[in-house]
Amino acid sequence: NSVDFIRNFSIIAHIDHGKSTLADRLLEFTGVIPESAKNAQVLDKLQVERERGITVKAQTATLFHMYKDQEYMLNLIDTPGHVDFHYEVSRSLSATQGVILLVDATQGVQAQTVANFYLAFEANLAIIPVLNKIDLKTSKTEQVIEELNTMFDIEPEEVLQISAKLGIGIDKLLEAVIQKIPPPPCDVEKPFKALLFDSWFDKYQGAVANIAVKDGSLKKGDEIVSAYTQKRHPVMELGFMHPLPTKTNALYAGQVGYIVANMRNTKEALIGDTLYKVKSPVEPFPGFRAPKPMVFAGVFPADQGEYFNLKVAIERLILNDSSIELNVDSSDVLGQGWRLGFLGILHMEVFNQRLEQEYDANIIITSPSVPYRVKIFGEKNIKMYGTDEIMVLNPSKLPNPAIISEVLEPMVQGTVITPSEYRKDITTLCQDKRGHLEEEIHIGEDRILMKFILPLNEIVLDFFDKLKAISSGYASFDYEDHGYQQSQVTKVTFNLNDHEVEELSMLVHTSKAVQEAKEMCVKLRDNVPRQLFLIAVQARIGGQVVARENIKPMKKDVTAKCYGGDITRRKKLLKNQAEKLKKMRKIGKITVPKETFINILKR
Ligand code: GTP
Repeated sequence: NSVDFIRNFSIIAHIDHGKSTLADRLLEFTGVIPESAKNAQVLDKLQVERERGITVKAQTATLFHMYKDQEYMLNLIDTPGHVDFHYEVSRSLSATQGVILLVDATQGVQAQTVANFYLAFEANLAIIPVLNKIDLKTSKTEQVIEELNTMFDIEPEEVLQISAKLGIGIDKLLEAVIQKIPPPPCDVEKPFKALLFDSWFDKYQGAVANIAVKDGSLKKGDEIVSAYTQKRHPVMELGFMHPLPTKTNALYAGQVGYIVANMRNTKEALIGDTLYKVKSPVEPFPGFRAPKPMVFAGVFPADQGEYFNLKVAIERLILNDSSIELNVDSSDVLGQGWRLGFLGILHMEVFNQRLEQEYDANIIITSPSVPYRVKIFGEKNIKMYGTDEIMVLNPSKLPNPAIISEVLEPMVQGTVITPSEYRKDITTLCQDKRGHLEEEIHIGEDRILMKFILPLNEIVLDFFDKLKAISSGYASFDYEDHGYQQSQVTKVTFNLNDHEVEELSMLVHTSKAVQEAKEMCVKLRDNVPRQLFLIAVQARIGGQVVARENIKPMKKDVTAKCYGGDITRRKKLLKNQAEKLKKMRKIGKITVPKETFINILKR
């Protein structure tokens, strides 16, 4: 039975522990890519990547490997690399029967190692523990092996040691993949059923989907149905990733490949969806859910003349990422733009970085906010809103507090792994962020794992940076969704010379409202350019002024032209000026220059 010679697996690792390097080495070792490319991250740089414009998704590939006179088909299935994609990681993993758990021998177990281990463990996958970078003098092999034992009950003799960079131990690793990971459980006689675990956008072909075939078979010309969208799609092309798309005639149960099926965009090729053939519906894979954005921010072109270019760039990026939510937005100061929803903070950062790097876009991003669930009070009000609970994504959309009965905010469970010496500072940071310590485990002589429950709102701004700063870069962090919790939220608004500047409004926890209001006033004072007259900066909560700063006027020396001593003339000029300024102040609506926003809103 040919399925006996198929292995589907992923590499899971903390960031920078060597996943891409190992993937390259496996491709090289099995002859998929030429060895000349040694030490360059080939997959990352391949044409696929340029076409897809995506780094995080370039590593799904089919390899063929001879072992004991038998050829095996090894499907290496890529998992997205960062913490906001737990759901997508778990979908990719459900296309596999085993994983290589890769740990940097100089760094040891880190936060994402833990998160990824449990995703694999809970999915009942075979786990091959591997230490990487053993060529480095700083590797602490014994110590890390012990950590793996303490944390995951992994037996020391099970741990393989490799250098992905130098290609040491790769043969043994391939042997372990074949021996320890079972072939996919599947049935070619049953009706066709496949898991869609990745998709990307191709200019000419529309959405291309990577699928793992569970049962049955699929050939060109077949018509398939998406269990989620219920749309039908004729299969135009199918094949293997080798690592570039390589056409074949059919895909069979147990195999992993790509399909082109007239799907217009990645919203029609959602990760986690189940595909079946038109006349033979199947029970979908369990646990599918559409992506749910948790961090929202306004994005505006720094120069309105760039609006259309930016629009094209954003739409292109979104074609490849169905998890981003896009709504148009506009603001008096910032002009036309969009409000984008991301899965998390890193997701947002990666997106912005790509906009800037790949499309040379010059953008302004407003402070990120999280979705609050706001319960409405009173029959009349409920009628007006058409519901008793609304989602508030934008501070300016918060209803009048008088009609709010309860506010719920999104929470996360954060995992920190750190040398013990930073324990106290990290605990203080988390408390500052309204978090509480839930659990603490010693994972080695001088390293600990801490679990905190934190409001998402508190980590969207500067949590990572602060964590890295106080731990000299040693602490690693990962977080996952932890539902909603009742909260006290206050809306703070800002006035410049009695005119509200809506773009500055923010929602903050009530306990921090005054403090944050003060800090923002100071920021405004230092960033809004001076005028000829004094500008009052005020922060208000429910109409009450809670903080105030003055922006001093520029001194325009009206007497500069009067040389010498005509004192009465001087006095008169000064008096005139004072009166004029008083008038100006009364009517003065300050326009806040965009640069000021950039300075205030950027981190
Ligand atoms: P992300 O894609 O950012 O998650 O990183 P990754 O896990 O794919 O790590 P990557 O393969 O990019 O490796 C990170 C760094 O470690 C690179 O500079 C590699 O050259 C280096 N590296 C990877 N494997 C080894 C190894 O076995 N030995 C040594 N000395 N360096 C290695």
